[in-house]
Amino acid sequence: MSSGGRTKIAELLQSKTAIGTDVVVKGWVRTKRGNKNVAFIALNDGSIIHNIQIVADVNKFDESLLKNITTGSCIKACGKLVESLGSGQPVEIQAESIEIYGTTDASYPLQKKGHSLEFLREIAYLRPRTNTFGAVLRIRHAMAFAIHKYFNDHGFYYLHTPLITGSDCEGAGAMFNVTTLDLNNIPKTEEGKVDYSQDFFGKPCNLTVSGQLEGELGALALSQIYTFGPTFRAENSNTPRHLAEFWMIEPEVAFYELEDNMELAEDFLKYLIQYALDNCQDDLQFLAKMYDNELIDRLKFVVDNDFVRLDYTEGIDILMKSGVKFEFPVSWGLDLQSEHERYLVEQHFKKPVILINYPKEIKAFYMKLNDDGKTVRAMDVLFPKIGEIIGGSQREENLDKLRQRVEEVGVPEKDIWWYLDTRRWGTAPHSGFGLGFERLLLFVTGMSNIRDVIPFPRTPKNAEF
Ligand code: 4AD
Ligand code: MG
Repeated sequence: MSSGGRTKIAELLQSKTAIGTDVVVKGWVRTKRGNKNVAFIALNDGSIIHNIQIVADVNKFDESLLKNITTGSCIKACGKLVESLGSGQPVEIQAESIEIYGTTDASYPLQKKGHSLEFLREIAYLRPRTNTFGAVLRIRHAMAFAIHKYFNDHGFYYLHTPLITGSDCEGAGAMFNVTTLDLNNIPKTEEGKVDYSQDFFGKPCNLTVSGQLEGELGALALSQIYTFGPTFRAENSNTPRHLAEFWMIEPEVAFYELEDNMELAEDFLKYLIQYALDNCQDDLQFLAKMYDNELIDRLKFVVDNDFVRLDYTEGIDILMKSGVKFEFPVSWGLDLQSEHERYLVEQHFKKPVILINYPKEIKAFYMKLNDDGKTVRAMDVLFPKIGEIIGGSQREENLDKLRQRVEEVGVPEKDIWWYLDTRRWGTAPHSGFGLGFERLLLFVTGMSNIRDVIPFPRTPKNAEF
């Protein structure tokens, strides 16, 4: 593979054998300091959080060249890699030649260190050049890779489910419509409704809220599949944990009951967190130092401890007996708010909790009904600082029971006849769940706003870049 005519800074900082050789580096200048004899340039190419120091003898270089090397400019530097006399770095480069690819000027927004995360969101197109977003984006990559590795190693197949669908999986939040109709001149039927027969797909379509329903079709043939793709929810939730466009990982497994599903979820999460501890130490240590000094201990704690498994009904009991005055009062039948989830996890058990067997009214139509006729085999995995990180369930495999739920909830059968057919022909017990990728990243990076763990966040009134 071509190296682009340079060695990556990560390699130089980690290699012992390169010392004493001539090297070429390319990257963006973080800082330049020095005196009238020598200039010290800190260069970063995104391959690692650390910069490499380039030492330039001022007398050997054109004055105007050095003047144009400013914070943010992009350069190529050639020279000898030597052990550094300074304390900040193991090695440095004694520059022989420097070429400037791109200069900056005084309007470059990342002049100094310590910009607020709010400000950096406004310049999301540049924030990957900061230490924080370099670290977050490298960890995001490592987690995506580890997800594929985990499933591949366990014999799951990666199934690509459609992003444009005609059905509503969760029935919960609002959806984004997909249309090519002229919104200024909408064709109408005789009854005055939108005439979707003239639309691109000939019927109303939307961006998917989940790949699950199609994932189930895959599981009922390949037996173990997972999806990993973007999902879209038009819910107007302006919180630090909600995005309108987020990535979800959805394994779906034939012959799994709820118990197996819980085991998979716990093993999977622990694997991913351990992977980060093993492969992202530099970035984790940087984030821990800057934002959250308990981060690494918290990650280790989750890997080392069993998750608590608890019935929804018991959870409600604990919350009602807690004596805590919650903003949203608790009673059996109500959906849990983040404050309730976090009380159970952070105050009561001090461990991740898998809450199961929720009332059917607050969960989606496809979940398997328990014998009590009131609760369904749902499971939510609740994490410290995050609340719900995973939502999943055992699926209703019985055609009649599923039909009844579809009717009760009011899902039009014409939209999901194909889903019902799987219960008609060769149905099987099966289960699955959805992990919110950015919720996972919130936990692993210790960042506190979900807008800061995705390169270009989409939230209400915000789709810039
Ligand atoms: O609990 P949810 O809605 O479950 C489903 O979509 C199921 N179809 C999954 C399945 O069984 N295959 O969403 C799953 C997870 C949540 O636990 C949360 O981590 C994340 O997706 N999530 C969001 N993340 C960011 N922004 C949002 N608006 C999110 N909504 C859900
Ligand atoms: Mg959920």
